[in-house]
Amino acid sequence: MTESTALEVDPTNTGQARAWDGDEGSYWAAHAERFDRGVAAYHDTFMAAAGIASGERVLDIGCGTGQTTRDAARAASEGSALGVDLSVRMIELARGLAAEAGIGNATFEQADAQIHPFTAGSFDATISRTGTMFFGDPQAAFANIAQAVRQGGRLTMLVWQGLESNEWIRELSGALAAGRDLPTPPVGAPGPFALADPDRVRNLLSSAGYSGVELEALHARIWFGSDPDDAHPFVLGLMGWMLEGLDPSGRERALDALRATVNAHSTSDGVTFASGAWLIRARRG
Ligand SMILES: C[S@@+](CC[C@H](N)C(=O)[O-])C[C@H]1O[C@@H](n2cnc3c(N)ncnc32)[C@H](O)[C@@H]1O
Repeated sequence: MTESTALEVDPTNTGQARAWDGDEGSYWAAHAERFDRGVAAYHDTFMAAAGIASGERVLDIGCGTGQTTRDAARAASEGSALGVDLSVRMIELARGLAAEAGIGNATFEQADAQIHPFTAGSFDATISRTGTMFFGDPQAAFANIAQAVRQGGRLTMLVWQGLESNEWIRELSGALAAGRDLPTPPVGAPGPFALADPDRVRNLLSSAGYSGVELEALHARIWFGSDPDDAHPFVLGLMGWMLEGLDPSGRERALDALRATVNAHSTSDGVTFASGAWLIRARRG
């Protein structure tokens, strides 16, 4: 169990902070390269859409261990990139990785992006790779992020589409459910499907002060490991909490089902599942 830090969070984000600044964040930090590789098929398209130019000041929301912040800082060159995240473990690792890579214009801060007092108009571009789906009050969060960006500044986000487009969540949680009728994460609630509904995204962003909101559907395979023996323990570490409440035989059924699913998705490129994301672009003002 990781100790939680004295991070100031909005009351609507207390649960997310407990998870991300606790065990979940520690797991991500311990497997940073694997998580980056997991979404690698989206990365170049995402960074190209962000279109960071030299001299720009970039804010990376929910930056995790900072791959996107490092790439934004490289592209910004004479400019800078600030990554913010709830998880102290991920922020510490992000700082270390940027220093190791000799990137002097990337900084990192542990903060709740929903309430952090960013200086008004101090960024040219905001980016987020799956880091904006967890806000307890997304309206307040996007308004806070928008005021940090200058008029005309850009927002580029990658978020998950719904369950129907995301075989990885369907199949992995289906296996671990072991026949139980478990609720799927609701569309609109903090979690993977918070921004899955395009109309909701347009409404949220336009009332936060953005215009020209565009959503582009992307589809790519998510990578979980080089082969089933590599992927299986990783998935179990990530989603093993779903075994809670199962008796020993249910647990065995779930583990068998997970093993079968992982085996069935083993390809020459490793264990991969289909996924769908929205690439979202908007401008302030
Ligand atoms: C799915 S991870 C993505 C991490 C990273 N962007 C990446 O692509 O690897 C979501 C991240 O959002 C962060 N996060 C969630 N809510 C946040 C908030 N209110 N403020 C700042 N970061 C937040 C979490 O701590 C977590 O690191």
